[in-house]
Amino acid sequence: MFYPDEIIEEVRLHNDVIDVIGSYVHLQKKGSSHFGLCPFHNEKTPSFSVSKDKQMYYCFGCGAGGNVFSFIMAYENYSFVESVKYLAERAHIELPEPEVSEEVKKAINYKQRLYDANRLAARYYYSLLRKDVGKRALAYFQDRKLSADIMKQFGLGYATQFRDDLYKYLQKQGFLDQELLDCGLLLEDKKHKGEYYDRFFNRVMFPIFDVHGKVIAFGGRVLGEGQPKYLNSPETKLFDKSRNLYGLNIARKSRESFMIVVEGYMDVIALHQAGFDNAIASLGTAFTSGHGQLIKRYVDEVVIAFDSDGAGVNAALRSIPILKSAGLIVRVLNMETAKDPDEFIQNQGVEAFQTLLHNATASFMFEIKQLSKRFDLTDPEYRTRFSEEVAKKLLSIEGKIERDNYLEAIVSQYHMSKSGLYELLAKHGNNVGIAQRTPQTMSRDMGGNSHKKREEGTVLAQKQLLAILVSNYKIFNGVKDIIQPEYFTHDTLQKVAYIVFDIYKTKQEIEPADIMRRFTQIEDQKMIANIFSEELKVENQQQLEKLLNDTIRNIKGDYLEQKRMNVNDPSGLMTLIQEKKALLNFYLHLDEIDRRD
Ligand code: UTP
Ligand code: MN
Repeated sequence: MFYPDEIIEEVRLHNDVIDVIGSYVHLQKKGSSHFGLCPFHNEKTPSFSVSKDKQMYYCFGCGAGGNVFSFIMAYENYSFVESVKYLAERAHIELPEPEVSEEVKKAINYKQRLYDANRLAARYYYSLLRKDVGKRALAYFQDRKLSADIMKQFGLGYATQFRDDLYKYLQKQGFLDQELLDCGLLLEDKKHKGEYYDRFFNRVMFPIFDVHGKVIAFGGRVLGEGQPKYLNSPETKLFDKSRNLYGLNIARKSRESFMIVVEGYMDVIALHQAGFDNAIASLGTAFTSGHGQLIKRYVDEVVIAFDSDGAGVNAALRSIPILKSAGLIVRVLNMETAKDPDEFIQNQGVEAFQTLLHNATASFMFEIKQLSKRFDLTDPEYRTRFSEEVAKKLLSIEGKIERDNYLEAIVSQYHMSKSGLYELLAKHGNNVGIAQRTPQTMSRDMGGNSHKKREEGTVLAQKQLLAILVSNYKIFNGVKDIIQPEYFTHDTLQKVAYIVFDIYKTKQEIEPADIMRRFTQIEDQKMIANIFSEELKVENQQQLEKLLNDTIRNIKGDYLEQKRMNVNDPSGLMTLIQEKKALLNFYLHLDEIDRRD
């Protein structure tokens, strides 16, 4: 543990979940809970609940849940310790110097070392750009019309042609080979093991910042022609490509309500220089759902402004569904007259780009347009095929009004017959079922083979039983002789079970916080929040009784079955058989335990 338990508890008590979460999510009181739109998945009706009594949140839609710490961890992308610091500050609580195990201290210090190396490297490259050796590099940037201000804002630099320049510099600053390898700045010589050289040399350098403004990686471009044109840092302990975006450290503070996503470093920089401080780029990789969620934290809309070539169009087609599934509205900018945003602005100016931005089309219409290019629309047969494809695509739109709007737009733009298109919709709608399932539920349903399903069933039973036990001491008392913590095979659930059994030795009531505070991993906290919200689903005593007995049978049955496979002495086997019998005869009537005292 990092900070003493009492301190963490104090921080938690001074940060009411309703206040904290309420500052991020618009909450409305309904019954004993507050409800709002879940910030962790895309939804239109609120299924995200926050309970003041339990000091917990739980989303019935996506299962996200936890306490005030896990919320901050998930929302701000913080570690547990960072979330404690953040909330302590919010409540004006001064934290003591953290108690750290040697191991943890090492890990933290090591990561700090990597940040330090990256920061020093960035500064070094930055200073070289302004020295004599950097003349050509500076001229290169100036040639590309970058101002001194923008170069400074993006920390642009230069790596000289000497292959050990940075290596020597950082060695002098006390960095070890391993550290420099681990932050991706060094490469090992393939022929001479144990010899190292700089990953980047003779390139203009683009430091990559995380959202907090720390240097986590670099991109380097050759001056002029050469291969590879751009070289990027590999993924490291600091640099996760699918969770970082170039320019986001600045764009997140933009006052615009949307972001412009582009392909290249230079596009981002050119746009920022032109006053579009909301431009970002993925880092030489395709957009991931992680990127989508990251963007969704700051804005609800993106405009894709990729290169105008075929690769750019394909990249846009691939990115659209990913960005949309994060709940973003996606539009696509049409830039036919130039290769990329950087060139466009160079050639046509800022105002022209502003117009393009204004005229960016809804991603759906962009997809239809690309689809239309695959068919020769002057040929009646291809026209029919195109209509079929359009109908199928229209069916993927959930809302009827939105679907109708697009239908109207397509009918007028492609001169199609409205009634004909409606007919096709009806035809395909019957085939596929208009209410198509979301990809998420689909993979969940289809991915599970029977073994996996069974495993999930067992975990569910364990969760449900724990849910009953944590909320009712009497029931616990009635079953504690036939159920043991070790029967819970799921790692986290078993830990929870041990804690529950332990708390009930001295108390007859369990608060979620009492369990939650012993876990710092967000996945664990989510599970625990899930347990505590489980009770809400049971409607009456009868259901509760059935669930209780079913889960006990299921869990203990599995446990005994496992044991039977590993027992080979006769007496052990006998005990097992007796236990099995006892289990078969066991049934706990809830009205019975009510009468007991
Ligand atoms: P482009 O080749 O379109 O680059 O690659 P660009 O931004 O227009 O480059 P300039 O204007 O010639 O300087 C787009 C992005 O793809 C990645 C980089 O992130 C680049 O910004 N890329 C490209 C690489 O990672 N490696 C490469 O060799 C090329
Ligand atoms: Mn370019």
